[in-house]
Amino acid sequence: MIIAIDGPAASGKGTLARRLAARYGLPHLDSGLLYRAVAHHLAAHGGDLADAAAAERAARALDPGQLGDPALRTRGAGEGASIVSAHPGVRAALLDFQRSFAATAPGAVIDGRDIGTVICPDADVKIFVTASPEERARRRALELEARGEPADHAAILADVRRRDERDMTRATAPLKPADDAVELDTTALDADGAFAAAVAIVDART
Ligand code: C5P
Repeated sequence: MIIAIDGPAASGKGTLARRLAARYGLPHLDSGLLYRAVAHHLAAHGGDLADAAAAERAARALDPGQLGDPALRTRGAGEGASIVSAHPGVRAALLDFQRSFAATAPGAVIDGRDIGTVICPDADVKIFVTASPEERARRRALELEARGEPADHAAILADVRRRDERDMTRATAPLKPADDAVELDTTALDADGAFAAAVAIVDART
């Protein structure tokens, strides 16, 4: 069973994907970490995020063993990821890893931006998770504060809007719901409410 969870930054799709994976006994891949790792590697080696060839080389050399690095969870890495992820060569370099992850038994839960549209167009269940930009910024601020990082609300809201704009308008694999995705608006839901709604969607489709 393949469950594709897509949605904008800080929509809660990561938490949802983790919980669905546990519930259905499936491995989970947070595909955003791949793009974050590419950005982090480039930045750490003095590279330029706008350099498509260098970014693609970093993507091809990516070691999936490093995806647990906490440095990938910072605001800077997320911002960098949204820049390198617009390079078609970077997306192409990361495609096979994601497809093989999905193809390995017993299936997978993968969350990202283009899982239902590009990576796993035949996924059994596709959920497109949304929430208002203000609510997403509020959640992101709480997350950062919990990790002891400074959380400037206005800056985070600006970040969320900038990432939405970049992710939705890029030419390759823009953020958008697949035609057969179920949209789940979590603005008024807490994590448990979002999880219950997602389980209902999965159970209705499988
Ligand atoms: O989901 P997360 O915030 O970790 O993603 C960071 C950035 O990586 C996103 O803003 C997006 O530009 C990019 N991304 C992507 N495709 C994915 C996952 C993430 O383009 N499947």
